[in-house]
This record gives sequence, structure tokens and C-alpha cells, in this order.
Amino acid sequence: MARTDDDSWDITEGVGATALGVAWSRSEEAASDCPLFTDPYAQLFVDAAMNRGWQLPPHYMIERIRSIGGYAASRTRWFDEFFIAAGANGIDQAVILAAGLDARGWRLPWVDDTVLYEIDQPKVLEFKAQTLAQHNAIPSVSRYVAVPIDLRQDWPKALCDTGFDVAVPTAWAAEGLLPYLPADGQDLLFERINELSARGSRVGVESFGGGFFDRDYLARRREQLRRLREEAGDDVSQKSPTPRICGTSRTAPTWPTGSPITIGKCRRSRHSTS
Ligand SMILES: C[S@@+](CC[C@H](N)C(=O)[O-])C[C@H]1O[C@@H](n2cnc3c(N)ncnc32)[C@H](O)[C@@H]1O
Repeated sequence: MARTDDDSWDITEGVGATALGVAWSRSEEAASDCPLFTDPYAQLFVDAAMNRGWQLPPHYMIERIRSIGGYAASRTRWFDEFFIAAGANGIDQAVILAAGLDARGWRLPWVDDTVLYEIDQPKVLEFKAQTLAQHNAIPSVSRYVAVPIDLRQDWPKALCDTGFDVAVPTAWAAEGLLPYLPADGQDLLFERINELSARGSRVGVESFGGGFFDRDYLARRREQLRRLREEAGDDVSQKSPTPRICGTSRTAPTWPTGSPITIGKCRRSRHSTS
């Protein structure tokens, strides 16, 4: 599906379906003999989407996803530990950007009084909420807040409007997001995170190291995908979709305690009574 500056999607369409691909991958890991994490919700999302007519990706894409299954599982585990460590260090406000079908709000052991905000496209979060409600899933976090908005729009305002507190440290996660934003959109994302972050905030980012864009590496990946398609009997003369679930490095910088930050207009303490 061609992208435009203001496109939107449902869970089974275009970029939305990548969240299903990741959920499928998590369901496979969770069902394995020695899983890196438990996620009983991933399979529920896949089943609910299939009930809506969504089909698993073609065989060659499944093989491609399987071939990086270990990466996807370690990525999930890495972000799980990122949030657990943040909580252990006294951070009780978290924001998951482009949350997709991430079920951390229902499966992680959050510290008491933690507030978790999730941002994604409205239809994606709607599908997620409906599926979880159908299964009577109860959040493991003290307060869960869905913020349905496109990350290319004024999401800081939407976040603040739902109660986000710029005065307290926040744990941010950008997992499986950057490939879907243009370069200037990525810059803007981090500028905004910085503006909304009190001292002691931290951010976990799945990013691509320079090697990811190396010509030889890209050529090898294209060839691997072409071979998988050929083995699956696919017409390799047709353009192939870009593999979506991949990456090479993640970092979790913390703000130095002395670094200057800009406080946005929406300062409001959730501990205040007004
Ligand atoms: C590969 S999925 C990753 C989902 C989740 N972070 C995970 O790892 O399971 C990409 C997600 O990014 C969301 N996304 C991409 N671009 C977005 C945008 N501009 N605004 C809001 N959400 C976006 C999609 O809707 C989708 O849920």
C-alpha cells in the first residue's frame, strides 16, 4: 500500500498489519519450549484479526519472519527489562509510542501507581481494546491510557490532554517505529520526547546501526527474500514488499541529571488536586 503524508490504517491494513506480524511472532515465541517471555494476548490478537478475514502473511514472509524470530523475541525481552528497570528506579510514568499490539500494560509487573500511555493510530488501539475487553483482560498497570493519534500530528498535546505529567520522569519506548517515519519525522519525534521529559527520564529506542544500510548487507537481504519467494512458488518478477521486522541495534540513553530540558505548556501534576 502506497504511503502518503496523512495516511491512516486499520489493524489489518498496510502499516497496521505490521503490528499483527509482530504479535504473531510473539505468539510463536510464547508457545515455544523455552520462551524468553510470556504473552498470552498475542495469540488472541492474531485470532481476532483472522476472524475479521486477516490472513497470515504469505509463506515466504512467514519464513522471513521466522528467520529473525530470535531477534524479535530478544527485542521484546529487552524492552520488557527496560520498563522493569525504569520502575525499579522509581519511574512510574511510561509512554509506548506506536504501541501496536504490545500487551505490556497487561502482562508486566509494573510498580504500584504506574500510569502507562499508549500512542498509535485510532483503529489500531480500538481493535486492541475490543479484543482485550472480549477476553476480560485486566491491566497489570495501575492506570492505562490509550492516546489514539497519528504520531505525525500534535501528539504531545493529545498526551497532555489525557493527563501526562511533564513534571515527573518518564520511561519512553520506540520499538518497531522508526522505519515508518521519514527522517524529519524521526528528528521531530525525539525533539518532542526531549521537551516532554523531566530530569531522570529515559528512552528505549530500536534503531538501525550504520551497517544496516550497507549496500552489500541490503543486497544479501533482498536476495534472501527473493530466494524465499522463489521457493514458495511466488512470482519473483513482481516487486517484493520491503521486509518490515528487522533492525540491528537498540539503545537506552538516560538524560544526564544536569541536562537542560524545555518544559512544554502542558505542565500538570497528577498528584495535584486541581
Ligand atoms: C511493527 S509495528 C510495532 C508495534 C509495537 N511497537 C510492537 O513492537 O509490537 C508498527 C506500529 O507502528 C504504528 N505506527 C507507525 N507509524 C505510525 C504513526 N505515524 N502514528 C501512529 N502509529 C504509527 C503502527 O500502527 C503499528 O502499530
